[in-house]
Amino acid sequence: MLLPVYSSCITGWASVPAILVMSAAVAFGQNKVVINADLGKDTISRHIYGHFSEHLGRCIYGGYYVGEGNARIPNTRGIRNDVVNALKKLKIPNLRWPGGCFADTYHWKDGIGPKAKRPSMVNSWWGGVTEDNSFGTHEFLDLCEQLGTEPYITGNVGSGTVKEFAQWVQYTNFEGVSPMSALRKENGREKPWKVHFWGVGNEAWGCGGNMTAEHYANVYRTFATFIPASWGSGSLWRIASGAASGDYHWTEVLMRDIPHGLLEGVALHHYSVDWNHKSSATKFTEAEYFDTMLRALHMEELVQQHSAIMDRHDPQKKVALVVDEWGGWYDVEPGTNPGFLYQQNTMRDAMIAGVTLNIFNNHCDRVRMANLAQTVNVLQAVVLTDEERMLVTPTYHVMEMYAVHHDALLLPLSLKSAMFTGGGKSLPAVSASASRDKDGVMNISLVNIDTGKPQDVVVEIRGASCSSVTGRVLVSEKVQDHNTFDDPDHVKPAEFKGAKLDGSTLRVQLPACSVVVLTLR
Ligand code: AHR
Repeated sequence: MLLPVYSSCITGWASVPAILVMSAAVAFGQNKVVINADLGKDTISRHIYGHFSEHLGRCIYGGYYVGEGNARIPNTRGIRNDVVNALKKLKIPNLRWPGGCFADTYHWKDGIGPKAKRPSMVNSWWGGVTEDNSFGTHEFLDLCEQLGTEPYITGNVGSGTVKEFAQWVQYTNFEGVSPMSALRKENGREKPWKVHFWGVGNEAWGCGGNMTAEHYANVYRTFATFIPASWGSGSLWRIASGAASGDYHWTEVLMRDIPHGLLEGVALHHYSVDWNHKSSATKFTEAEYFDTMLRALHMEELVQQHSAIMDRHDPQKKVALVVDEWGGWYDVEPGTNPGFLYQQNTMRDAMIAGVTLNIFNNHCDRVRMANLAQTVNVLQAVVLTDEERMLVTPTYHVMEMYAVHHDALLLPLSLKSAMFTGGGKSLPAVSASASRDKDGVMNISLVNIDTGKPQDVVVEIRGASCSSVTGRVLVSEKVQDHNTFDDPDHVKPAEFKGAKLDGSTLRVQLPACSVVVLTLR
């Protein structure tokens, strides 16, 4: 039957049991994806596509904020227009601030009121630089409004007080008469912003206070008690500072010891890094690339294991797993301040982003929020700036291509992949996730991390009938390729012509080291 080319996929058409389709299809080749288009039940929260901006290096100052009086760099109330315009295209759903480690040193009242009267502070975690507090609560929330994104504020637990934290929530969220809403109005903001997401400290096991899990659980209970979930914004989210990578004890204790009525999310931080050998961001070897991908793909096991612990304590999946720091971490660019964590961004980073976001999509029943570290000029940035100049990175392009999955219905899939081998170890070369948006359009994101071999992938679509496929690809000659201020479009997406749809079978020729997003109607 011929269907009109631009009609959306018709679901529920082929009800062949998945297992039969799988066994018949495996014979077609090494890479096989079976998409169960009629079995979707979970939504991929757009908040999985969140970002993180800390007072670190040139992220806030110089990255976003250049000051109201800056005549050289076009800005709106001090916030760079070029950066805002670029980020708007990503449809960033939430932005985490002010840290990171910085958050547990930050006293928010130092960053409000007339700028000339704001005290300065020393950023003790990042470079020991003095900051003048000209970018504070109002400026951050102005940035969020310019971006059309939801703020995610991390409160100070390590060196702050319960009173200070509760007053911050009252300042930003409370509509009625109160000392903090009066102060907010005095500072020029009549209506509350209604900040929905609140982090209760950051890395409490380390820079947030070197606490044990048991101690932090008690501290959390106290703080959360005074940040009522219903205060000022309907249903506010309190997110507990989470585990470092495979610290399962941390998640176990939090889920066991914190009453779930006080807890909307538990965080997890995982960087794709070898702390003993970070490697150059651009001049890395094949072995270093392989190691990075091994660590990026480890996210699958981390999400599964932390989720399994959460499932035992919270079978209804009420509490979200919030991966509020993830990404690649390399040596800083030569000649830059080691405390500023400024690194270039290559096709390696595009691979990290592609596989990680596929993992989050596929586990969206529990992973309902995540934040790439960090947005501008720090770690796996999507935007880099150099005075007046700005560029977007390969990671930016992946985020933009994957935006089709925001709030779409996850279509569960099974995947059989060829292996990518290096140094006697093997990793699956192909990664995938699929969703259907509110208009019935199906999107499939595929990644081939193998730098040497293209992969032919057979995608069997069961439970829906589609009549057309279009696609976009992010690919470059070398995995080290990146954008520079002199060549800002060296790596950018292009139209993809390597997919052919034949009935319910899609044949895809995935180029080596590529990210492809296919749209089926
Ligand atoms: O993202 C940089 C730092 O990494 C953050 O401040 C901290 O939370 C983590 O250790």
